[in-house]
Amino acid sequence: MISHKLGSSTLELTPVGLGTWAMGGAGWQFSWGAQDDEQSIRAIEKAIELGVNWIDTAPAYGRGHAEEIVGKALRRLSVKPVVATKCGRLFDTDGRIYSNLRKKSIFQEADQSLKRLGLDVIDLYQIHWPFPKEQIEEGWDAVCSLIEAGKVRFGGVSNFSPEQIKRIQPIGAVASLQPPYSMLERRIEKNTLPYCQTENIGVIVYSPMQKGLLSGKMTRERIERLDPEDHRLRDPMFQDPELAVNLDLIAGLSEMAGRSGHTLSHLAIAWVLRNPAVTAAIVGARSPEQIAETVHAAEWRLSDQEAGEIEALLAERVNRLRDMKSEQE
Ligand SMILES: NC(=O)c1ccc[n+]([C@@H]2O[C@H](COP(=O)([O-])OP(=O)(O)OC[C@H]3O[C@@H](n4cnc5c(N)ncnc54)[C@H](OP(=O)(O)O)[C@@H]3O)[C@@H](O)[C@H]2O)c1
Repeated sequence: MISHKLGSSTLELTPVGLGTWAMGGAGWQFSWGAQDDEQSIRAIEKAIELGVNWIDTAPAYGRGHAEEIVGKALRRLSVKPVVATKCGRLFDTDGRIYSNLRKKSIFQEADQSLKRLGLDVIDLYQIHWPFPKEQIEEGWDAVCSLIEAGKVRFGGVSNFSPEQIKRIQPIGAVASLQPPYSMLERRIEKNTLPYCQTENIGVIVYSPMQKGLLSGKMTRERIERLDPEDHRLRDPMFQDPELAVNLDLIAGLSEMAGRSGHTLSHLAIAWVLRNPAVTAAIVGARSPEQIAETVHAAEWRLSDQEAGEIEALLAERVNRLRDMKSEQE
């Protein structure tokens, strides 16, 4: 698989990276329900075998569990991938997530992540969310100090606005931004992507299949069968009235993908990768079979005609949602 340089860093990333949120397993606020650890490790091994050269994880994914799983997989792998993890989201004594970007806390978090991952250095260390808002400069200063100390190679941020990135840039170079981006979540197109392009900040987008909604396998019946703990059951995109409109869009997009021998998941990922400001996409998987399918999205370059057809279907969805909203008002 080809790879692209991530912003101002020297990291070379394949267009598809493997996401590990669902590998955090059950028992926490934003879990995807029960997950078999051996399946997770085999999914990581399969991704690397198929040419994916990087993994995204975070201590927040199952209170360190996803990082432990990545660490176990790394010990089994002969080819070592680039590892990106995060900081700034912690769990209180009741198991609820809160944010802390104090220097001391980030130093502690980095040591814990290195231990769980079994690494001497983290390739890409990202501030997970820009919260508490007034602590982002202190948090970024901590990430820069970890680079100086040799515990981190490059620093990035996630879920930051251009204004928040501007605030921290004088402290040290921002190698990358990790924002949400999919056919159903396009807020970064207007300001964030142009800003990153101008500033040579690499962009690794998350949830390109909108948490599996655009995987091509998500149906009303499947949603009803989701683990009761799966946080997607609380997501309005997975609930009526929005779900009905989303399922109509999915039918149209799936038909289109099928015409050129692809799946909807390929189309969803190829669509985010078509944007020149996007360096790579983080694609989540819970099994080797899932990543074995989605990895092929990197081979599909959407034509202008295909992109135009998708745009028309997306506009139809936006109009229907707008009409529904105005009827409710
Ligand atoms: N920085 C942040 O705040 C942030 C936020 C979100 C995500 N992320 C990162 O981005 C990664 C990717 O995002 P994501 O996991 O939310 O969503 P995604 O990549 O849009 O969707 C992944 C999910 O889709 C389903 N899926 C994947 N391949 C499939 C296939 N071939 N057939 C059928 N279903 C398939 C799986 O869930 P089911 O099988 O359960 O349906 C999988 O967990 C995360 O894992 C995480 O590393 C970061």
